[in-house]
Amino acid sequence: MKTDILLGLQWGDEGKGKVVDVLSPSYNIVARFQGGPNAGHTLEIAGKKHVLHTIPSGIFHSNVLNVIGNGVVIDPISFVDEIRELDSLGTDICKRLIVSKRAHLILPTHRLLDAFSEAQKGTKKIGSTLKGIGPAYMDKTGRNGLRIGDIMEKYFTKRYQDLLDKHKKLLGSFEYDAKGLAENEKKWMNAIDFIRKSLTCIDTEYFLNESLKQGKKILAEGAQGSLLDIDFGSYPYVTSSSTTCAGACIGLGIAPSLIGSVEGVFKAYCTRVGSGPFPTELSDETGDKICQVGREFGSTTGRKRRCGWLDLPALKRAIMLSGVSSLDMMKIDVLNDFDEVKICTHYLIDGQKTDRLPYNLSEAIKPVYKSFKGWGKFPFMGSKFDSLPIQLKNYIQFIEEAVGVPVKLLSLGPDREQTILR
Ligand code: IMP
Repeated sequence: MKTDILLGLQWGDEGKGKVVDVLSPSYNIVARFQGGPNAGHTLEIAGKKHVLHTIPSGIFHSNVLNVIGNGVVIDPISFVDEIRELDSLGTDICKRLIVSKRAHLILPTHRLLDAFSEAQKGTKKIGSTLKGIGPAYMDKTGRNGLRIGDIMEKYFTKRYQDLLDKHKKLLGSFEYDAKGLAENEKKWMNAIDFIRKSLTCIDTEYFLNESLKQGKKILAEGAQGSLLDIDFGSYPYVTSSSTTCAGACIGLGIAPSLIGSVEGVFKAYCTRVGSGPFPTELSDETGDKICQVGREFGSTTGRKRRCGWLDLPALKRAIMLSGVSSLDMMKIDVLNDFDEVKICTHYLIDGQKTDRLPYNLSEAIKPVYKSFKGWGKFPFMGSKFDSLPIQLKNYIQFIEEAVGVPVKLLSLGPDREQTILR
């Protein structure tokens, strides 16, 4: 058996949570491979909205095992809060969840370091979710980090204290709420205790590879999006992990030869939350309308998302970087009420037309658009592609031909039911 991958092709918030939830019944295991509580995967089930931050999106299916891989960074406080909230819905989360001993921990001071780093950057700030992601990955690569496996060891408290002292030195004169930190430390230690006693923490790389040998089906769930990738995103306005297909190999311990299909999720338009370049951004009424109709507000931070038309050069690059084999097109219904819909097919840079992303996604980029007649509101006629308005079918066909990959799933609303699988 091979591991299938599902990942975002834009700046995150593509609707990955919904797709994983829809696909989960066909899989035995859903595994998160990178990121942390900066993610907010929204699922709407029977009209009720659930937002997952660290827990994989297969959790609502009783026969699916959910794995948090070594590539993820875990904030014990928010992780345990999330478990308790889901438990209160009558779901026995701990039985459906396995955590890698190699996943790194986000300490309360990592959040302060995140705030400190952003404050130092001033107007050039990243617009981080301030969940401590960057500093936790910095400690990982700097070989200072604490991992889930360490919480079982006698040395844990001492190592925690050493790292805390180091962080306090780094924070220097940065003003922070010392009382708040002490309270968070207490909560953090309680959450660690809960993880130690209630969760299965193992070498997930063995578990996943053995599961594949036994013929189990695994879906690797990405967080954020390809344009936020630490290497290939719009650096430095990126997150601190590898969000492309290769990140799944590293973040789960699965060899590239064991990767099966790669499903890329994208919205019918683009959004971005936080700072950084966004060539097709619409700073006008159209952008506002997309934001309002699409309810484009961050599920983790509540921030208003910047909105713009679909960007094909960026989409093509994301497809190339991950070897995407099929596409899932989300939030199509958001564009139902537009007379005209546009797609950026190329950029104009210094008078030259190109469909390649330049090293600097600077403001000198001028998007070249192709305009489409809107398809207008239409009733949801069940799961038949043929029943879609012709203008919408043209829009989808144009994208498929331009990127050379078929659109296999269409999402026409937040609920599981509002989905067309081709
Ligand atoms: P950080 O990963 O929280 O430090 O944030 C770095 C950048 O990535 C910021 O622009 C965030 O807004 C963005 N970001 C991080 N996680 C997500 C996500 O799940 N969806 C969308 N944007 C994200």
